[in-house]
Amino acid sequence: MPEPTGNRGTGKAPVGVIGAGWVGLVTAACFAELGHEVYARDVVSEKVEALKRGEVGIHEPGLAELVQRNRDRLHFTTRIEEVLDAARLLFVCVDTPPTYSGDADLSRVRAVVEDLPAASDHVLVMKSTVPPGTGETIRRELGGSGYVSCPEFLKEGTAVEDFMHPDRVVVGAAPEHSASADAVAALYEPLGGEIVRTDISSAEMIKLASNAYLATRISFINEIANVCEEVGADVGEVARGMGLDQRIGPSFLRPGIGFGGSCFPKDVSALKLLAGNSGYHFQLLNSVIEVNELQKRRVVSKLTRHLGSLVGRRIALLGLAFKPETDDMREASSLVLSARLRGEGAEVIAFDPVAMENARDLLPGVEMRDTALEALENADAAVLVTEWPEFREIEWARAAKRMNRPLIIDGRNFLDAELLEASGFVCEGIGRPTGSSGTE
Ligand SMILES: NC(=O)c1ccc[n+]([C@@H]2O[C@H](COP(=O)([O-])OP(=O)(O)OC[C@H]3O[C@@H](n4cnc5c(N)ncnc54)[C@H](O)[C@@H]3O)[C@@H](O)[C@H]2O)c1
Repeated sequence: MPEPTGNRGTGKAPVGVIGAGWVGLVTAACFAELGHEVYARDVVSEKVEALKRGEVGIHEPGLAELVQRNRDRLHFTTRIEEVLDAARLLFVCVDTPPTYSGDADLSRVRAVVEDLPAASDHVLVMKSTVPPGTGETIRRELGGSGYVSCPEFLKEGTAVEDFMHPDRVVVGAAPEHSASADAVAALYEPLGGEIVRTDISSAEMIKLASNAYLATRISFINEIANVCEEVGADVGEVARGMGLDQRIGPSFLRPGIGFGGSCFPKDVSALKLLAGNSGYHFQLLNSVIEVNELQKRRVVSKLTRHLGSLVGRRIALLGLAFKPETDDMREASSLVLSARLRGEGAEVIAFDPVAMENARDLLPGVEMRDTALEALENADAAVLVTEWPEFREIEWARAAKRMNRPLIIDGRNFLDAELLEASGFVCEGIGRPTGSSGTE
């Protein structure tokens, strides 16, 4: 194969990216920012055309600016040949959604493998999250090409920052592909995170185990919060006291109405099923999943305790996205919550600063409003679903007057409960003494 043509004399290796979604676009833009020519391919031609015009299409802080600043180095295409001609290292960032069985759907990954010409010396660098064992199978199949597992740990909402300042970069490869692994590690070296070199299956397992562990912490603190409600303790105080223990640490100890998003639910399920398929019953993860499902529904019982039957009640949802600073609705808690509320006969009104466009088709029967105050108009209760900072700035005293009943369930323990109560609200959070700010 002739030498790839893409480096334009910069001395920096050109980079290929397959799949220009959340991970792929961030990867492409960040490598371009680091000075690489980047050739990114997606199969959705409208997406590629928009990207060629510099339109990013997803809400991710800093990403649009990065794409704009590096337009000269970013080349978007639908043609795999263009990427293969230009770059040797191909970062695979295609989606691996759950199938009906809950296993990871690897069909897009398979399509990428099949796109590789026989006897090419390209290196597939797998950033997509795949079950342990997948990479070894592909490596054996590939023959000449190299294979490196390099799982992605970025978080939506801070994806650019996470890519540029990684806690660690995991690079997994078989011994015969150690030169390819060196090349991948070299790309990440300027970013300063510790490089963890390992075999392919361990790299894949690091990714799934990390997400499963974080999800476990969330379900754990949610259960502690639920017990706090029973015994009159304040989970905020409990989490602070726990987190100061260096063996525990403070992160991921925030109770709420359950985790969602494109990664945690599917990765926990994929790990549970992978274990099951290999003959091991991963008992703990069953509970993590079940606790999370129940947590999304607990808001309904909180509302009925205050309002009685929800038939005909008007409930305002503040926030729809699965977390702030994103318009991603994949597995958002708002999907289950709004369906449950509708099922109880409630009228559901919603506002989200950026996710309403994506949410519209997913939330049949839910009415969207242009501002939070409009959503709160004549509502019998509000539920804070996503902790968007701007919700702290709502004029709550004004809101209380516009609502039918100034009741708020703070599903993320995010708002200033004392301020709300001073503004006339009854405010209930998660795992705090019922009906109070938790500060009494
Ligand atoms: N989103 C996250 O926060 C995150 C974080 C870490 C890891 N991951 C993992 O990274 C992978 C990608 O996730 P995402 O959120 O970026 O998905 P995404 O759905 O946003 O993007 C995937 C992109 O790949 C494209 N695609 C599909 N098949 C293709 C093919 N054969 N050739 C070229 N393009 C193709 C799709 O059109 C889409 O644009 C998944 O495995 C996910 O689990 C995601």
